[in-house]
Amino acid sequence: MQQHSSLSIPAQPDKVLTGDRATGPLHLGHYVGSLKQRIELQHRFEQTILVADMQGLTDNGHQPQKVAANILNVVADYLAVGIDPAKTTICLQSSIPALAELTMYYANLVSIARLERNPTVKNEINSKAFGRSIPAGFLTYPISQAADITAFKATLIPVGDDQLPMLEQTNEIVRKLNQIAQDEVLVECRPLLSHMTRLPSVDGKSKMSKTMGNTIMLGSSEQDISKAVKAMYTDPTHININDPGRVEGNVVFTYLDAFHPDLQYVAELKSHYRAGGLGDGKTKTILEECLQSLLAPIRERRALLLADKAQLVSILKEGTAKAREESDGVLRRVKTAFGLNLF
Ligand code: TRP
Repeated sequence: MQQHSSLSIPAQPDKVLTGDRATGPLHLGHYVGSLKQRIELQHRFEQTILVADMQGLTDNGHQPQKVAANILNVVADYLAVGIDPAKTTICLQSSIPALAELTMYYANLVSIARLERNPTVKNEINSKAFGRSIPAGFLTYPISQAADITAFKATLIPVGDDQLPMLEQTNEIVRKLNQIAQDEVLVECRPLLSHMTRLPSVDGKSKMSKTMGNTIMLGSSEQDISKAVKAMYTDPTHININDPGRVEGNVVFTYLDAFHPDLQYVAELKSHYRAGGLGDGKTKTILEECLQSLLAPIRERRALLLADKAQLVSILKEGTAKAREESDGVLRRVKTAFGLNLF
């Protein structure tokens, strides 16, 4: 062991933050891409999870019930998969006033042109067909996300690659503010990229989404899971069982890779399928069994949790109170950096 001199400053342990727009219940894509990782991270790091209801409103201002009605669904999803509120702070964005305040201060450090260049925002704007009526809240949500990240001094952000531009923008804001303050008021963050690529939708045409019918939700019924697996896109040229089949782009195999506990067995299935002689009915039965056994206990816990809304509210309220305290401290430091600390 190397001796540390008494002058060496110990590195701060990482703090982990993730968030989800509360625009729908969570699905299998969230599970493999993110929730599973968060369940592990909560044992190793201080972790905060933000139910991003305000961000959910940025493209749902005309239908706010889509957000309001899903807040507790998302909290139930977290708890049902095994996120433990004793280890992870689960909090509600709209009840943490410092986040909105920080957003207003940071907005002075970011140009409209820079926001318009953000590739994720650009893609979303194109796909949402806002035309000339892009909500100001939508264009500026990367600023609000920078507020989310910095308010909890988060350094490690588990994300999919679509969120990398948000972290880049956050770090630009951090550097600008620190430069103004001539002090390290805010800390930069870095991504923790999920090793699982995005789970495709059931038809294989797009990624899973909270808004499409093509998705298996964590709370999906046994029948819905069965229906979704039966409808899964496979290899359209694999017509007779004895034909050689393609595994690449075959949604059943993508899901087996993501969810089947025995990878050796999946590898054997793949070579059998490629050689011919393994039918889609069989691979779908294997996948369905695996998904049913994964989701049955989650669905059951989720239903129990949603049967006691008062308890969910109280868990969320407790996490939010803790989050408020922390973010108020950061807000004070940011205001001071702007010289706004008369009282
Ligand atoms: N933008 C994220 C998403 O669409 C949600 C989110 C909001 C978030 N605030 C965050 C993610 C802070 C990470 C950190 O999924």
